Amino acid sequence: MAEIQKLKEEILTDLDRRVADKILETSNAELLKKLISKADSLTDAIQIAELGTTYKRTGLHFDKRLDKTGDTIKYFKRNDTLSFVEPKDLPKKEATCFDSEETKEPLIHKLIIGDNYDALLNLLVQYRSAIDVIYIDPPYGKDSMGEFAKTNYNNALTRDNLLSMLYPRLVLACQLLSDNGVIFCSIDDRNQAYIKCLFDDVFEERNFICNFIWQKKTGASDANDIATTTEYVICFCKNKEQSDFAKNYESYDLDRYKYEDEFVEERGVYYIDNLDRGGLQYSDSLNYGIECPDGTITFPNGRTEYANDGWIWKWSKSKVEWARKNKFIEFRKSKGKQSGWSVCYKNYLKVDNENKPIERGAPHKNLITEILNANGAKELKDIFGTSPFKNPKPIELIKYFIKITNHYNSNPVILDFFAGSGTTGQAVLELNSSDNGSRQFILCTNNEITDTTPNGVVLDVTSKRLKRVMTGKCYDGISNFEWAKKNKPLGGSLEIYDIATVANFEDTEGKTPFEVIDETLYGEEKFATVQEKTEWVCDNFEHTQKEIESDEEWLKRQEDNNATRS
Ligand SMILES: C[S@@+](CC[C@H](N)C(=O)[O-])C[C@H]1O[C@@H](n2cnc3c(N)ncnc32)[C@H](O)[C@@H]1O
Repeated sequence: MAEIQKLKEEILTDLDRRVADKILETSNAELLKKLISKADSLTDAIQIAELGTTYKRTGLHFDKRLDKTGDTIKYFKRNDTLSFVEPKDLPKKEATCFDSEETKEPLIHKLIIGDNYDALLNLLVQYRSAIDVIYIDPPYGKDSMGEFAKTNYNNALTRDNLLSMLYPRLVLACQLLSDNGVIFCSIDDRNQAYIKCLFDDVFEERNFICNFIWQKKTGASDANDIATTTEYVICFCKNKEQSDFAKNYESYDLDRYKYEDEFVEERGVYYIDNLDRGGLQYSDSLNYGIECPDGTITFPNGRTEYANDGWIWKWSKSKVEWARKNKFIEFRKSKGKQSGWSVCYKNYLKVDNENKPIERGAPHKNLITEILNANGAKELKDIFGTSPFKNPKPIELIKYFIKITNHYNSNPVILDFFAGSGTTGQAVLELNSSDNGSRQFILCTNNEITDTTPNGVVLDVTSKRLKRVMTGKCYDGISNFEWAKKNKPLGGSLEIYDIATVANFEDTEGKTPFEVIDETLYGEEKFATVQEKTEWVCDNFEHTQKEIESDEEWLKRQEDNNATRS
């Protein structure tokens, strides 16, 4: 009896976890918990708990796929043939503000080959709440009339299928995001409304940041009715209260900040303004004498004595005393003034004139122009001579999204689980190269076979692209491609993982998960004892048995449902 009670407790804890992970609605979980506590047998308790293992209903109506527990667990297996370590002979980079006293750890990026559902389940072992920025560019699917969107892969999806494919993956992505993390999702005109609703459901509407409107081309002369020249990028935060976006300094006149003093580190560069002004509302208390560096006294408008000519100081006497002491005031010799002095105050970039931190610059806008989609293909052509992947995103677009988050300067971990040709990887590498940053990318994409990629996208494009731009050489050592002629290798090491399966814990035949799973691929040190390793595998890999209904199962269930309805 005590044993059953203990197992029931475990089931109840699991339900709580599913509520916390936003998979199960609280009200449903409470009902299930009541039923489980009253269940007579463990079998009954398990059956009731299973009612809580499907994803919660969304406000959208679509035939979502269900998840179930399979009998194999999935795990990362290093692909030794494709992985590579940063060559030691790369030129040392200049030290920048990013470098700490300690020597930098070598930067290891990751590329996971396979279905991103399994990849995300595995990433949760190491990166739960630890991914700062996610960018995804999922297949755009078919519209409701069944017309295929122009995508570069053969698995064009129906909208229903697109939504039910994305839904469980977004749930996992939400669990991976850090508390102040941000997710960007590219989507076309037709699907934007549907995908936005899906995001509202998973990330909650209150965490919506904006729909970026990206003008990806300047015209569409082949359009019949209206030339659609834009796409969307839906942006959500894990928690809007903690969201952190950078300001746009480009719209801010930085050129006038010409000077610096001994406080440049804390206060930034500065420009000066005159402390006196005329013609505005006069106040006698602001008409007083200030002692100049040579001991003489100056009044507003460079007068040497008190008079009411309408000129006053902008600051009170006490504020001027404070500002002088704290070096916010600068005296400049001025021949045109009776006193021979101009009294000026400093406008620093980083602090206001009470020495409080200040963010200058304007918020970024949700309209993106001047980044053309066509550049994506040109960038690939530079690397491969042809463009073996249709419609890759331009590198600048992804850089833009990384830059506008305030994670940009704190070496974020950036995930793209529909990585395609690997543009997000190259964007991160280029940003690192420009400022010696240590941003890390994790990419996942399936090895889909297309007309231009007979061995699959990862083998023919993604891994090769990253190898070429990171090391300046192809896997076969050749370096005579255009990109390498114009650029230095971007550096870094790439760990490439396949997703392997092994029979679950109950299976005693063949290899066990404890033997095949390599903990070092999940950020762990090698475990010293078998017991430690066993405990870690049991604690972390049970959920990687989860499976989403296959196409066949899903279609069969839809047929059954239709048959029951009619
Ligand atoms: C629109 S493309 C991404 C293009 C990418 N942004 C670029 O610039 O190259 C989507 C990619 O996701 C891959 N994909 C689709 N479904 C997937 C899944 N379930 N798991 C992993 N990759 C998937 C497709 O094969 C395709 O390569």
